[in-house]
Amino acid sequence: MTKVKTTFSCQVCGYQSLKWLGKCPECGGWNTLVEENVSSSETTNFFVGIPREHSFPQTLDEIQSEAEERTLTHIGEFDRVLGGGIVLGSVVLIGGDPGIGKSTLLLQSLNQLAKEGKKVLYVSGEESLRQVKMRAERLGIKSPNLFVQSETSLEAIIKNIFELKPFAVVIDSIQTMYITELQSAPGTISQVRESSGKLISLAKQTGIPIFLVGHVTKEGAIAGPRVLEHMVDTVLYFEGDRGHPYRILRAVKNRFGSTNEIGVFEMKDTGLKEIKSPSELFLAERPLNASGSVVVACIEGSRPILIELQALVSATNFGVPRRTSLGVDYNRVSLLLAVLEKRAELNFMSQDIFVNVVGGIKIEEPAVDLGIIMALASSFRNQPVDSRMTIFGEVGLAGEVRAINQAEIRIREAAKMGFSRCLMPKNNINRLSINTNMELIGVNSIEKALELL
Ligand code: TYD
Ligand code: MG
Repeated sequence: MTKVKTTFSCQVCGYQSLKWLGKCPECGGWNTLVEENVSSSETTNFFVGIPREHSFPQTLDEIQSEAEERTLTHIGEFDRVLGGGIVLGSVVLIGGDPGIGKSTLLLQSLNQLAKEGKKVLYVSGEESLRQVKMRAERLGIKSPNLFVQSETSLEAIIKNIFELKPFAVVIDSIQTMYITELQSAPGTISQVRESSGKLISLAKQTGIPIFLVGHVTKEGAIAGPRVLEHMVDTVLYFEGDRGHPYRILRAVKNRFGSTNEIGVFEMKDTGLKEIKSPSELFLAERPLNASGSVVVACIEGSRPILIELQALVSATNFGVPRRTSLGVDYNRVSLLLAVLEKRAELNFMSQDIFVNVVGGIKIEEPAVDLGIIMALASSFRNQPVDSRMTIFGEVGLAGEVRAINQAEIRIREAAKMGFSRCLMPKNNINRLSINTNMELIGVNSIEKALELL
């Protein structure tokens, strides 16, 4: 007889305790510990059965390198975020808010593989077969190679995978899967951990790539144990604003590629459409010659994107002035405001300040500094920045404008999008290796840049 052991585990962070506690000592969450039964025959050894090639250390020279085999889904944005296609035997976790389009994206990708004659399996634990069929009809998907199953028992699913031998599998979602031996409910830490462990070892054994859909918590992290993100090969987040049709696929971990890449999609009534030229999208509704609006040239991963950045400076009505920033780091904006006050003698003391990046995108690189400075000064003085000009450059505490990397790519993208002037660090111009018809305005301090207003 197997002995039944119970543990209490925190549903937020996965902390385990032998007795119940009101507050989780690990993450500080209140009332998050739930009793779960773990039969002692169940061990957490996921990787049993995976063939081990060598157990003896080798020198790097001895190891034979082979390029991992990749398969394209022909959804370019998805392939790029994956690092150049699907790697055989890899496990990809995709998280995102409900209704953002995770199921749609994966169904469309499977369909692309099915079109090439590859057998694929879509397992839905959330929707009935009829609901999946309805979505497929809406997307115009019809393929004899696309198999769909509505199932939540992991044992049954694994059995089916061995029988069907599909090329790729989607599990939608990992939180609905359960293993009967574990007596806790689906979605609890132990179920999610054990189910994903079993699926990961299945993928490694058979070479079948598996996509897991993961729910997110209120805070936006993938629900379930933290270890889940460590166990899988790739973690992607599908983000976007429900009010906007744009969706951004972002890699936060990728063992087979860069984590800076983003993929941009638009949700249409016939499914997700990839946006090959995001700059066009982000600049589509730009007001011309409005004060406070500038266009910055950013790099996301390997790709340049032009994005509109807006600032609004208006007199405070009462009390402490408000400072709000969306899409750029709040601390960075505060720092740049201080630089403007000190070096350019603009007084923001009794002004409310709002900074926003259009399109719901987040920019993290320092190359937007000069853009933020120009937008703030432009709104404050109510003088528009030339709408044919794009801006990039890092700003230091002394008000100096510093060189940034990959200036050529940014200039080329700006030229492609029809801009004729570029405000940039002077040091970048000296090192430039391209010829362009653009008027390049190099500055080495923010005072020089503000003279352009
Ligand atoms: P879905 O893929 O079910 O989201 P998730 O799996 O992340 O919860 O997408 C659902 C949303 O997408 C829903 O609000 C309807 C919308 N949608 C479209 O706008 N067009 C379409 O073709 C489809 C299939 C869905
Ligand atoms: Mg779904």
